[in-house]
Amino acid sequence: NEIYLNGLADVRPDLPTDLTKLEGLAASKLSATSFGYVAGSAGSEGTARANRDAFDRWRIVPRMLRDVAERDLSVTVLGTPMPAPVLLAPIGVQSILHPDGELATARAAAATGLTTVLSTAASHTMEEVAEANGPGSRWYQLYWPKDRDLAASFLDRAKAAGYTALVVTLDTFTLAWRPRDLDQAYLPFIRGIGVANYFSDPVFQKSVGGPVTDANRQTALLHWIGQFGNPSLTWDDLAFLREHWDGPIALKGIQHPDDARRAVDAGMDGVIVSNHGGRQVDGALASLDALPLVVDAVGGRTTILFDSGVRTGADVAKALALGAQAVLVARPYAYGLALGGEAGVRHVLRCLQAELELTMALSGHRTVSELTLDSLVRV
Ligand code: FNR
Repeated sequence: NEIYLNGLADVRPDLPTDLTKLEGLAASKLSATSFGYVAGSAGSEGTARANRDAFDRWRIVPRMLRDVAERDLSVTVLGTPMPAPVLLAPIGVQSILHPDGELATARAAAATGLTTVLSTAASHTMEEVAEANGPGSRWYQLYWPKDRDLAASFLDRAKAAGYTALVVTLDTFTLAWRPRDLDQAYLPFIRGIGVANYFSDPVFQKSVGGPVTDANRQTALLHWIGQFGNPSLTWDDLAFLREHWDGPIALKGIQHPDDARRAVDAGMDGVIVSNHGGRQVDGALASLDALPLVVDAVGGRTTILFDSGVRTGADVAKALALGAQAVLVARPYAYGLALGGEAGVRHVLRCLQAELELTMALSGHRTVSELTLDSLVRV
């Protein structure tokens, strides 16, 4: 409606409403290094392509005459009410894309009512982001560091700053073989702009002999790199999370049905079927192909979220019909951020919500729960 009304005054949207066009625009605006960081994936980028191709193999079967006058896209996921089943996936080091970074993202999320998931590797501290998000809703994504005290400190801070659910990313204890980043010598990372949560942390500061200043910055950066992830974690370690986090916990990066079962057995509250947007294991299956396997294994016993490759409202509808309770999107809003800061992120979120609502209504669905396998055919 807003777009029609603006049209009467000859005003067009600032950014394209086809969100797949944002990548090309961002490519011309950002430096090669920054663009490569967002757009790049692991290895030949075959899994990133597979993520997209998998959506084409499922097609929506529109139904008619089902009274879709009143539509309601709202859901409650891990205790968080949401106006639509879409979350902002954690994206680290967002100041590579825009100086306001995660602050802009958190403001845009609050303006739309959607939930933002803040990365441990954010370029602003979780307290600053919480303030920008205000009365909005926010979850915290943990990159589980080697030092247990540091992990516990992150969780305490997140809780105190109003992050209500914990997302633990399991697929990235180290960055994968990502040629675009490797060829650019990891410049954004080396500049150290993803370390705000670490450098501001009392436990981290203790390990580097006090607050981080120009004098110990190099030591602090090296300590951060050494701490970032822990490849020796096993399922038994999840007990630690339960001890230190009393809210809901979802494991991100689940692709195998047995891992989903183990997550449920370990008392986790949800899984996020994700292959990190194809950024970790090149040659891995498309995340959308993993979704039905996980739904078969644990559907009805836990919360199942999905990401990797969502670009349109139809994509969201397909993932929901396949059994996800909500989806996370990453690159589309990253490009929105790069192109227009907070307003750019808001544009992306509102387009996605509006396209989802139209797709659902025009295919005969009033609510998210009406999207089922019966809404799709595999071609
Ligand atoms: C990510 N992702 C990510 N995930 C995470 O748990 N913590 C993080 O800090 C990041 N950082 C990050 C940076 C960038 C630039 C991208 C593109 C992605 C992964 C992200 O949360 C999500 O799983 C996938 O990106 C989803 O796929 P799409 O929507 O990008 O196709």
